[in-house]
Amino acid sequence: MTSTWEQIAAVDELPVGGRKSVFIDDTPALLVRIGDDYFAVEDLCTHDGQPLTDGPVDGQAIICPRHGARFDLATGKPLCMPATEAIATFAVEVRVDGIYAAPQGTVSSSTPAVSSPEVKLAEPAVVVATAETPAMTSTTTIAASEEDSGEVSDADLIDALRQVIDPELMVNIVDLGLVYSVNQSERKVAVEMTLTSPACPAGPQIIQQAKMVLERLSAIDEAQIKLTMSPPWTPDRMTDEARDQLGFF
Ligand code: FES
Repeated sequence: MTSTWEQIAAVDELPVGGRKSVFIDDTPALLVRIGDDYFAVEDLCTHDGQPLTDGPVDGQAIICPRHGARFDLATGKPLCMPATEAIATFAVEVRVDGIYAAPQGTVSSSTPAVSSPEVKLAEPAVVVATAETPAMTSTTTIAASEEDSGEVSDADLIDALRQVIDPELMVNIVDLGLVYSVNQSERKVAVEMTLTSPACPAGPQIIQQAKMVLERLSAIDEAQIKLTMSPPWTPDRMTDEARDQLGFF
């Protein structure tokens, strides 16, 4: 296999946390240093072509500055909507005379490659606000309660949940299609919902806010929010409004 290693930086050029825009095999790329590890990725968000040059780095992820998609710097995989396709990554080597990079799969390492541990995705945690959650069906339609107290309608509950905004996408959780079911029983309501990705860090905040907006309703004493990753969220669950907001077609 032909080696196409290119020197893209001097050994001490980047401080910890630093980055440099480079070209690798004529492709605009971004070299990022995290601790003693270096990562090189294509400098182009797969959602809508935004350069990632100025995107914040969080742990081992880079965040698109335009709509907030996150990508694993080691694998290029999208960790969060609205991106669904991976960005290209490059092999990186630190040698005595500089930092070298090459397209993945075109070279074999002459020295041990820079470590690039996989990002560990959070386990699909199940968060239950109280001990007992009534069984609910995982459907994208909102189930009507047979024991509706009559004091608050399912539409009221859904409207309340629309107040909860995914802080990364800035779209409410109902239009994103994150709410799978809502069951009301007397003065209690049980919600089953998901996240766009188990790796999205906004999960606890979204769950807390969903519980809060429901318990603010005078007819509700207690809201139970169950988070599930089964079935996983897919973009086709979004409403047209959400698609428009995200520029997602
Ligand atoms: S262009 Fe990057 S998330 Fe939309």
